[in-house]
Amino acid sequence: MRQPLRLLALTGVAAALLTLAAGLLVWSGWYNVSAVAQHWSPVFKLMEYAMRQSVRHHARAIVAPPQDAAMSVRGAALYRQHCLSCHGAPGLPPATAGLSMQPVPGPLADAEHKWEDRELYWIVSNGVKMTGMPAWQNHLSEAQRWDIVAYLRAMPDLTPASQTVSGNDADPTQLAGDIERGRIALTQYACQSCHRIPGVVGPDTQVGPALAHLASQHYVSGALPNTAGNLARWIMHPKRYKPGGAMPELGVSAQDAADMAAYLRDADRGNPP
Ligand code: HEC
Ligand code: HEC
Repeated sequence: MRQPLRLLALTGVAAALLTLAAGLLVWSGWYNVSAVAQHWSPVFKLMEYAMRQSVRHHARAIVAPPQDAAMSVRGAALYRQHCLSCHGAPGLPPATAGLSMQPVPGPLADAEHKWEDRELYWIVSNGVKMTGMPAWQNHLSEAQRWDIVAYLRAMPDLTPASQTVSGNDADPTQLAGDIERGRIALTQYACQSCHRIPGVVGPDTQVGPALAHLASQHYVSGALPNTAGNLARWIMHPKRYKPGGAMPELGVSAQDAADMAAYLRDADRGNPP
């Protein structure tokens, strides 16, 4: 066979084998669709990249109208009604369902760095396939969608909403934490939507500090001496220790907090301070 023909034949065989392997993977049921199982990091990165590129491409011709303060005030009310339950707001947690989705709906406090206005408008109008992000073009008027974009722009300047501290008074300090349960719990309270955490796949977020050095740090959030018990206390009730802070109370149980504290202190081992 001539050289180009042989190359063509080999490519054909390789493509057929790959298709067969993908088919077998799907047919066998081996791929886990559980929202508790995290994506493999390269897969997660690839999907995030594909979404970003797609939004950039599809939103390129949209022209944003000028914004004023009245728009963001109206947008705040619309946001509270339609978006808060999944995305939360500065100092306010999402509803339970928003915490345990995969991918997790991020806090939109950093959306203004990541997206242009026209791109935010496109996302709100069209939603994002296979993520759970709904499309709003048939439910909100064009003006309302621009109001929400104006609010997203203003959000980082808004002080965290004051919030009643939750009444769960269980004491996490006497509980033994389980590292592996802690790793899963971190994803089920959407901690990785605000914090980069070693060993937990998540977006490249800067909303909260990276949780990489918690065994060697002296204080938790500069507020509490860093012991395993205090770390668990903070995870349950950040508002008690920093009433004006941006970390929301997420309704974490004492056992989950102890497990997460165990994981965070252990995850430190692989990371030089
Ligand atoms: C049912 C839950 C849900 C509701 C309600 C919801 N979203 Fe989302 N949203 C998601 C999910 C899930 C994603 C995808 C997150 C990802 O891929 O990282 C998302 C993604 C986004 C993104 C892109 C986030 C990023 O930077 O990666 C924006 C912006 C956004 N939503 C805005 C809104 C606005 C504004 C509203 C209200 C009009 C809203 N969402 C309502 C679930 C929701
Ligand atoms: C909406 C964003 C958000 C979510 C969700 C969130 N945090 Fe935070 N977190 C923050 C911010 C912002 C700070 C910095 C708070 C401060 O110092 O006032 C913080 C601080 C912390 C600190 C102290 C870090 C340090 O360097 O001292 C820990 C520990 C922590 N968070 C753990 C968690 C855990 C565990 C979860 C999940 C149960 C979680 N956070 C969920 C935003 C968030």
